Amino acid sequence: MRAETVLERCDELATISSSPEHLTRVHLSPEHRAANDLVDGWMRQAGLSTWQDAAGNLVGRREGREPDLPALVLGSHLDTVPDAGRYDGMLGVLLAIAVVERLRDAVLPFAIEVVAFSDEEGTRFGNALLGSRAFAGTWDDAWWELEDAEGLSLRDAFVDFGLDPARLPGAFRRPEEFVGYLEAHIEQGPILEEADRRLAVVTSIAGARRFELILTGQAGHAGGARIERRRDALVGAAEVVLEVERVSRERGVIGTVGRIEAEPGGVNVVPGRAVFSLDLRAEDDAARDAAVDEIVAFARDVSGRRRLDLDVHELYRADATLCDPGLRAAVEAGIRSTGDDDPLAFWSRAGHDGMAVAAIAPVAMLFLRCGGGISHAPEESVRADDVEAALAAYEATVRELARTR
Ligand code: GLV
Ligand code: MN
Ligand code: MN
Repeated sequence: MRAETVLERCDELATISSSPEHLTRVHLSPEHRAANDLVDGWMRQAGLSTWQDAAGNLVGRREGREPDLPALVLGSHLDTVPDAGRYDGMLGVLLAIAVVERLRDAVLPFAIEVVAFSDEEGTRFGNALLGSRAFAGTWDDAWWELEDAEGLSLRDAFVDFGLDPARLPGAFRRPEEFVGYLEAHIEQGPILEEADRRLAVVTSIAGARRFELILTGQAGHAGGARIERRRDALVGAAEVVLEVERVSRERGVIGTVGRIEAEPGGVNVVPGRAVFSLDLRAEDDAARDAAVDEIVAFARDVSGRRRLDLDVHELYRADATLCDPGLRAAVEAGIRSTGDDDPLAFWSRAGHDGMAVAAIAPVAMLFLRCGGGISHAPEESVRADDVEAALAAYEATVRELARTR
């Protein structure tokens, strides 16, 4: 299979969206089902036996030179952020299927599984990696009570999707079932483009924490409420947003406030409540945690000065994940086979399913360049010749692992 087919499939997948204007596809939605159905057909065409597991992940398997050998897993995710691009996650799944197709006649010392994870982004329920954490068996039953924006619980969403929460442990996998986990993904940043290179090997994946912060003051009349007496929650939030940027610069961590709501939301009403998100990442967990502590302490100070109440809820936490040296070496050999003698190596600022899978298998990642480093936006783009190179490197990586096992 060639890059053009992979890219055509990305285009086709991008039509499965909850909105006609932009691409949004979230966990346990009708679009999740439609995407699984479409990709299931491509997996079967590639010679994989498929099933949807008890967490809504789509899995395809091909046996190795004898049945029931441990598997090399090639994976990524099919869910998206709101108003997404068409390559984050999807490209990794479709490259994996293309690699399996290219290896159709190879006799391998391991089985191959391709996994299309159901929820990497956490768009719907706030907590990310729900698909891959189920796969890894690191599920926390407290998550059943997570709610989406409509107040529907994760438990009820499972049932609506046709899954039985009581059967979730059927999705849990064990370390002895695996040789390792590989994921191909667009870089989602500018390093490759700036270096004028196509591919890179990932050294580690940044640890991330996500929070919801709520500041509560007093709503009031935009004309009548005196400035000096106001308990304006949005102005307090604005101070915190700026502090997130300042701390990020000063400490070399990556902080983002991606969502903010002011309530009640009238043009002539002083905001009585502000609800906003915080996403904080760093290569090193201790640096990330120190930044979180500084920001939360600042938010407490703001709440005191402005007579606001502050609530902080941690929604998601994933610690930094080191890529496995043996798998990394195979990815580097794969990249070298494309004519790049000195593969770039750097850490991923973005989160990936491999962070969850690392609990049960060694993991490694192959990055490919994306246009302008842009991702999590509809302008996400890749070059067909880079996708071709990624495909060749990915196939060569699997062949290298087969050769050295
Ligand atoms: C996932 O894409 C993340 O890093 O937020
Ligand atoms: Mn993403
Ligand atoms: Mn992704």
